Amino acid sequence: MAKNAVITGWGCYTPSRVLTNADLERIVDTSDEWITSRTGIKERRIAGDGETTSTMSVRAARAALEKAHMRGQDIQQVIVGTASPDYLFPATACLVQSEIGATRAGAFDVEAACTSFISALAIARAMIVAGMIENALVIGAETLSRLLNWKDRTTCVLFGDGAGAAVLEATNASVGIESTVLHGDGSKGELLMVPAGGSKIPATADTVERGLHFITMAGGEVFKLAVKSMADAAEEAIAEAGLTLDDIDIMIPHQANLRIIEGVGKRLHFPPEKVFVNIQRYGNTSAASIPIAMCEAESTGRLRRGDKVLLVAFGGGFTWGASVLEWFGAHDGLRPPSRLERASRVLEDVVERVRPS
Ligand code: ACO
Repeated sequence: MAKNAVITGWGCYTPSRVLTNADLERIVDTSDEWITSRTGIKERRIAGDGETTSTMSVRAARAALEKAHMRGQDIQQVIVGTASPDYLFPATACLVQSEIGATRAGAFDVEAACTSFISALAIARAMIVAGMIENALVIGAETLSRLLNWKDRTTCVLFGDGAGAAVLEATNASVGIESTVLHGDGSKGELLMVPAGGSKIPATADTVERGLHFITMAGGEVFKLAVKSMADAAEEAIAEAGLTLDDIDIMIPHQANLRIIEGVGKRLHFPPEKVFVNIQRYGNTSAASIPIAMCEAESTGRLRRGDKVLLVAFGGGFTWGASVLEWFGAHDGLRPPSRLERASRVLEDVVERVRPS
């Protein structure tokens, strides 16, 4: 069994349509000054016609597979973290699995709102370390623009669309994910939710009329709990990895609100220059925010081989969690199995299955 799981591929996709704060001033009673000072957001991306959580996931997944020198058929498990799936079912992961040709892979979704990516990462890592699979494609993706009430200025200015993906592979080297912690508190669920469209309040003309299929949120309550919970989870994950805060080279937090991110940094006494922030360009993309930020941190040289990385998130549910990992980057030191080796493994599996017992 492998000792650990390491990220060997990563990719992200954001729609080309940009919605600025100035654009929002024409839609609801708000201002660039209010949005910027309360949230740090200047613009966000909005899915275009025909773009959905699965199509954006596929774009991100293809980029991640390319980085990992893998094809769809090499992948053994697809997990999509999302609160805005294409359908209630089938799972968005199944749509992605089919589109990328991951014919050998299992597929399921994880729903823990903004904590979905870290949750999916934890599951994939556990499956790899348990010896169930050798690799997984883990995606965080959202099309929250379709769940927003564009007449509600308290929510519609906050969110954006996009997707990020990571390929995880088994390794015996001491790199990769060193710890993950996950928490939840369902008693606070009603503070941030989409009330209708599920089995409790099925969609009807009346629920649509009353806007119950949109996101509702008690922003102030969410804010207070987010800062404390993210800071606590960060400390717990760092301790579980046997490290201290000083060992962390970069924090990639869920991009919910600049003031939440700053609040977490202050609470931890963590140097602001080591915190990666891109909320100004994307808003809150929920499950997609960490993998998109991870991609940008890498492409801008902020994330380098050997860096100790802290991922930390909080979201609806409530859910929160954190993960510490050592960034390895693309394969060139740790050689991936060749296509021939992968093919021979498939053959071995087939022989094993048909061998008389
Ligand atoms: N433009 C202008 N005015 C606004 C807007 C807007 N877009 N939205 C609200 N206001 C008004 C309110 O109506 C209120 O007016 P009133 O005093 O006349 O009633 C006033 O601004 C102040 O509102 P507050 O809610 O007190 O503003 P606050 O400083 O708390 O900021 C915010 C609101 C940004 C939503 C904040 O509470 C927040 O960020 N909460 C966290 C929410 C979040 O990030 N959720 C995402 C999901 S969970 C996660 O990802 C962590």
